[in-house]
Amino acid sequence: MLKKPYILAELGEHAIICNFLRRTGYAPGRKTRKESEVLFAIIGGSGLTQLSTLEVERREVARTPYGEPSGALIFGRLAGCEVVFLARHGYGHTIVPHRVNYRANIWALKAAGVGSVVSVASVGGIRPDCAPGALIVPDQILDYTWGRAHTFFDGADALVRHIDFTHPYDEGMRRRILDKAREAGEEVIDGAVYAATQGPRLETAAEIDRLERDGADVVGMTGMPEAALARELELPYAAINVVANYAAGRETSMQGVHFEQLEQVLQEAMLRVRNVLARLCQS
Ligand code: HPA
Repeated sequence: MLKKPYILAELGEHAIICNFLRRTGYAPGRKTRKESEVLFAIIGGSGLTQLSTLEVERREVARTPYGEPSGALIFGRLAGCEVVFLARHGYGHTIVPHRVNYRANIWALKAAGVGSVVSVASVGGIRPDCAPGALIVPDQILDYTWGRAHTFFDGADALVRHIDFTHPYDEGMRRRILDKAREAGEEVIDGAVYAATQGPRLETAAEIDRLERDGADVVGMTGMPEAALARELELPYAAINVVANYAAGRETSMQGVHFEQLEQVLQEAMLRVRNVLARLCQS
């Protein structure tokens, strides 16, 4: 007789996810939408804990089998189109990167009927052109995080699943962000290797040297496991990285990373990110 995982495998990948979601109490988004109207979510990181350009319609406190998301899901309209916003670090920026409940966040968005996710996250620049203020749409990930709840498929219920993660970001979404940014007149770098570190401390200069040798172009603390969890639930996911500072030991961060400077750089760059997001939701 076949064991359970094999039976599930015969159902096909999509059916496995549907089955899994049903068992964890998932009820698809209440609204029925036209194919063309895919509700999209924005997960905002440092510098984007609120989206002032969002006309808020309602807030929803989601409960998930994985605990509480970082905050209420904010439903509203951005440049006329329906979006959901979630502040990754909580409304008052109180949740450190390794304590973000990534599984609850992604599960709650999926349950809300979201069709795709754009992550906005600040990073340190390693590659010389990834200078403070630059916007980047990364295309690869190196994961140095540890001890985070990083999968929905941890073997419970004998459900073993190995997602394909060769290309961690959804290429269609990446292209769309790049096109819309161009239309909005915002310069955006196409492609970078994002290194996800554990934090909350910043890196040493030697660690940044190692990341560079590994092939990293930028470094941040929240890109993983978020991207992998979105892939596990079949949510197309892409990111806009905002360079807040040169990484430790580089350029102006040769003697240290100065947080007072980060705030100002982030605030200015987030205005440009808002501009791109507003374009993005217009088809
Ligand atoms: N390192 C890691 N994460 C970051 C940095 C950095 O230099 N800047 C902004 N987020």
